[in-house]
Amino acid sequence: MIDDKKVLFSGMQSTGNLTLGNYLGALKNWVSLSDEYECFYSVVDMHSITVRQDPAELRKRARSLLTLYIAAGLDPKKNCIYYQSHVSGHAELAWILNCFTYMGELNRMTQFKDKAAKHADNINAGLFTYPVLMAADILLYQADVVPVGKDQLQHLEITRDIAQRFNGIYGDVFTIPEPYVGKSGARIMSLQDPSKKMSKSDENQNASIYLMDDPDTIIRKFKRAVTDSEACVRYCEEQPGIRNLIDIYCACNDVKPEDVEKEFDGKGYGDFKMAVGESVVSVLKPLQERYEQLSKDKAYLDSIIKENAEKAQYYSNKTLRKVQKKIGFPERIR
Ligand code: TRP
Repeated sequence: MIDDKKVLFSGMQSTGNLTLGNYLGALKNWVSLSDEYECFYSVVDMHSITVRQDPAELRKRARSLLTLYIAAGLDPKKNCIYYQSHVSGHAELAWILNCFTYMGELNRMTQFKDKAAKHADNINAGLFTYPVLMAADILLYQADVVPVGKDQLQHLEITRDIAQRFNGIYGDVFTIPEPYVGKSGARIMSLQDPSKKMSKSDENQNASIYLMDDPDTIIRKFKRAVTDSEACVRYCEEQPGIRNLIDIYCACNDVKPEDVEKEFDGKGYGDFKMAVGESVVSVLKPLQERYEQLSKDKAYLDSIIKENAEKAQYYSNKTLRKVQKKIGFPERIR
């Protein structure tokens, strides 16, 4: 609890360009949570180096992601928006938690298995202990809730296991975090293969809408989106392509699938695809404009970065000092 509010923690990696899926599935909902919770939203650049990165590119993308958080509507005075690498406690707590995590547990992580297969030439220890750094992120702020996608639930589960194990030995040190499953964000699928999630790393450029795509590109990608053969706008299992487009339309316009079926009754795929494209353009336009504006204001962004890193450092140190004391590290002489 901070000032009577429950604490929320989440983060995104600063690799790849964010997609419409990241926005509608996560960012947009983060904005709606800022009033109810004391929120920490990190740009988790330390996680990014578990696979090789170009230094200049990593720095650029991290700043771009932080700017996008704000452009998407997160007020940086209310939400602690910061770079993970600016707060030393993440690495310090991660080391300690490493000593309370079993190889066998980490070996079961499906994301590790996937990534190890993808980067067979660089299966480093950081990739293996990635979930422990994530546990440190969350536990450092005594987070009550963590909004995550389905693919991260296993990491949240291990976070809870580590925290419970630690508390079992040393008493109530960590808050046990819950996954946030509220008004769940839309799960947006690839425009080229609706059985796959829309991804920042898809090789097919037409599969994903990037948040910085211009209107023509957006419309073109929707025109090319894979649809089905029923030739009517109906929300059903048999039409995964159309169902995905309906989900996108609903998330952009805050309507329900039934409303969309009614609105496009008797119309073909062509009309509907155009309408979806246009809705997406009108959702992304203000975000892109704010992003451009913010990017120009270097001094403002820098001040946000500095202030929020200090705030994060303050809260994380509270937990860290408590943990260090519990495990028997010598006291600091002031
Ligand atoms: N691993 C998360 C992802 O790839 C990102 C992340 C890192 C995270 N630390 C976190 C998410 C803590 C929630 C809480 O999506």
